[in-house]
Amino acid sequence: MTYGYISAHLADVYGSEVSKATISTIADKVLDGLAKWQNRPLDAVYPVVFIDAIHVKVRDGQVRTALSTSLWPLRPRATATLSACCPKAGDVSLGSVLGKAIRRNRTGNGASESRERRSTMTDSNQAAARTLRVGMVGYAFMGTVHAHAWRSAHRFFDLPRTPQLTAVAGRDATRVAEAAERQGWLSAETDWRRLVERDDIDLIDICTPGDTHHEIALAALEAGKHVLCEKPLANTVAEAEEMANAARRAFERGQIAMCGFTYRRVPAVSLARRFVEEGRLGEIRHVRAQYLQDWLSDANAPLTWRLDKSKAGSGSLGDIGAHIIDMAQWVSGNRIEGLSAVLRTFVTERPIGGKFVGLGGAGSADGRKGPVTVDDAAAFTARFAGGALGVFEATRFALGRKNSVRLEINGSKGSVAFDFEDMNSLQYFDGADDSEAQGFRRIIVTEPVHPYTGNWWPSGHGLGYEHSFTHQVADLVRAIGAGAQPHPSFDDALQVQRVLAAVEASAADRAAWHEVQV
Ligand SMILES: NC(=O)c1ccc[n+]([C@@H]2O[C@H](COP(=O)([O-])OP(=O)(O)OC[C@H]3O[C@@H](n4cnc5c(N)ncnc54)[C@H](O)[C@@H]3O)[C@@H](O)[C@H]2O)c1
Repeated sequence: MTYGYISAHLADVYGSEVSKATISTIADKVLDGLAKWQNRPLDAVYPVVFIDAIHVKVRDGQVRTALSTSLWPLRPRATATLSACCPKAGDVSLGSVLGKAIRRNRTGNGASESRERRSTMTDSNQAAARTLRVGMVGYAFMGTVHAHAWRSAHRFFDLPRTPQLTAVAGRDATRVAEAAERQGWLSAETDWRRLVERDDIDLIDICTPGDTHHEIALAALEAGKHVLCEKPLANTVAEAEEMANAARRAFERGQIAMCGFTYRRVPAVSLARRFVEEGRLGEIRHVRAQYLQDWLSDANAPLTWRLDKSKAGSGSLGDIGAHIIDMAQWVSGNRIEGLSAVLRTFVTERPIGGKFVGLGGAGSADGRKGPVTVDDAAAFTARFAGGALGVFEATRFALGRKNSVRLEINGSKGSVAFDFEDMNSLQYFDGADDSEAQGFRRIIVTEPVHPYTGNWWPSGHGLGYEHSFTHQVADLVRAIGAGAQPHPSFDDALQVQRVLAAVEASAADRAAWHEVQV
């Protein structure tokens, strides 16, 4: 079966350019790779359940095959090299073989081989229709976690289409090739425009700084692709408006666009939203949201794009404040209609270059410094359209707070409180409890009845940071399958952009009250 599947694909790709003998040698090598990876004799190669794809690369007459596997943290990889003359250069994907029962059977006669070939080609045509071919731009922090989500979502959630990691784009040829290999992409490009031009890509995933979102998203939507764009949607309201308009037009053509406010998809946050929708909190009166980190507390941490307004749009405000604005509005079911804000930059210049670790690092000691052109911290009070009062704070200078994304909502009947540093639980206070037993209760959000968690581990076996990105991919692929708009839409993200702009305008206006278009 496997042998027929692989050689039928190869014959289709190479047509008459390659002899039958070369094709069968390549197929042999792929099977050798499988056997090596599984540490089994060739005859006992086992059903391959974790293989994303088989790559065949032809370079300088050398044919290289590689199996790309992705059940993190297991990353077995087998590579076999063969000296064979092949006239066609370039990378060829043999497509997904996920879940195919792989059994080596090479003893059939000609008739059974052609029957096998016909049936495997039918399989592969069906597989192509079910595949969602992803092209991702940027491969660092978000690129890594998005790649993980694209690899794992269909293994845990029933999806109408199986994501295929078709291509990744970066600017440096060596580094993007390394990232493609490490993260499991079938090919690499050094210009994102190539991803947009390619016919074999259905969706563009934008994991680059904010100054690139507008151009890439518009080009991708124009080219007929679905789009997943990291937050904040853009660097200005004008850009975000154009993107939202383009997304609305694209939706009419059957394309889906979504923005990556991933904290919505932490199960405890989704549960908080469910409680509000069910009316357990009653009328919402207070919304308290904080996003606290400390990686910039050291004045010697080096300059990065996050400290450059031309790249990031704003500082703590857009980087992490955008998350709590989105989360607070989504969970409370209310939008901010006006606010009064202050912004502060504590360290106005920082070393250029140094040792980069995580989001920060240690600046070089050569004395060269450059200006910080964004806010270090943002704070604002707000009024929600439904009448609730909001208090927001975003900073990367809260020593000791690593990724404390906090939300507390108090209503007329109850309250919820969440902190990402205890991400598997939600605090809930029910005002209807008898007064003797009243108090915040800690709900461990890992039960099958909770949002998303039934697809993972048994009760109490917690989830981590990466899972909300897997949920994001699952929801997006389901929406694409259904032709429905997933949340958050570009319109939702545009409204967050308007809040960010109002914060900056108010802070520049001595904290004067600024209205926000709801
Ligand atoms: N959803 C979340 O929780 C979350 C978390 C962190 C960052 N983000 C957002 O994700 C985006 C990326 O942030 P990051 O932390 O991954 O940054 P990063 O610095 O780790 O990675 C940025 C990547 O973009 C690439 N890049 C930059 N300009 C490019 C261009 N013109 N063409 C091609 N590649 C380019 C860089 O080489 C790098 O691979 C930002 O919009 C950020 O706000 C979202």
